[in-house]
Amino acid sequence: MAFPQMRPRRLRSTPALRRLVAEQRLGGSELILPAFIREDLTEPCPIGSMPGVVQHTADSLKRVAAQAAEQGLGGIMLFGIPADRDPTGSAALEPAGVLNAAIRDVRSEVGDDLVIMSDLCLDEFTDHGHCGLLDTSGQVDNDKTLDIYGRMAVAQADAGAHVVAPSGMMDGGAGAVRRALESAGHKNTVVMSYAAKYASAFYGPFREAVDSQLAGDRRTYQMDFRNRREALTEVRLDVEEGADIVIVKPAMSYLDILADVAATSPVPVAAYQVSGEYSMVEAAAANGWIDRRPAIMESLLGIKRAGADMVITYWASEAAAWLKDAT
Ligand code: PBG
Repeated sequence: MAFPQMRPRRLRSTPALRRLVAEQRLGGSELILPAFIREDLTEPCPIGSMPGVVQHTADSLKRVAAQAAEQGLGGIMLFGIPADRDPTGSAALEPAGVLNAAIRDVRSEVGDDLVIMSDLCLDEFTDHGHCGLLDTSGQVDNDKTLDIYGRMAVAQADAGAHVVAPSGMMDGGAGAVRRALESAGHKNTVVMSYAAKYASAFYGPFREAVDSQLAGDRRTYQMDFRNRREALTEVRLDVEEGADIVIVKPAMSYLDILADVAATSPVPVAAYQVSGEYSMVEAAAANGWIDRRPAIMESLLGIKRAGADMVITYWASEAAAWLKDAT
């Protein structure tokens, strides 16, 4: 043995020693809170499949954003649930549409104190629930969708989003969004692209959260979970198209992907700990099968250790409060 005196347990013998040699640290500034706003709500509405998460009213969203700013979170990521849907998701483009109005409200509440991110996708706005426009045979039409993504990006930037997050997995999506922002003069709007987003069963609870209209699945545009190498191609394309930050999603079943991307990406990497990951831990904890707080912290640290620079997580506020207590 090269180091006969080496006793790894020595450095684990007290909490202070363990803290001294900890390789990973987590702070609230690395956590991004997803938040749902639903049109025509008078009270926040609990999401049954995501205990502790609600659909917000305009007022409750403003309060949550103010709290996130106060806590110094990394950002808030907004998802809108419109009252009316149509085949082209036209409410996504209206300045007064639920998501654009929410961006405007949150921006007036927190200014530049909190990074405001908006989901840029059509699935919440279309009556068929797909992330893009359908052609006459019912398939998602990639190139027709790009034009709408560009216009949606401009509408969100006009409303005050610091970051837009195209999540539809259309080929050329990041580039279409970047070009549209440039032509509209939004040179500093950041594109945070869902570069490696897999078709995943772990999005299940989110579908209830946004009242999804989807009947089938998204396997013709989201990635196949059997594939690893392809994630690097997706990331390279998005970075070439102008993505400033790339997202790997989901997180926990995709830590190999995250590690690959983190090792090679020239831009910061975010991981999305998705609804199903949240709900599994909440359900197990509610049954007394798992110790909630340590399990949550272990999941977040594991994602960070795999290489994420930031984590999008429904526990962002709660975890940030714990982390603050711990220091
Ligand atoms: C699509 C979108 C989805 C999620 C975030 N953006 C759903 C999907 O792709 O089917 C899932 C997030 C989660 O499960 O927490 N706009």
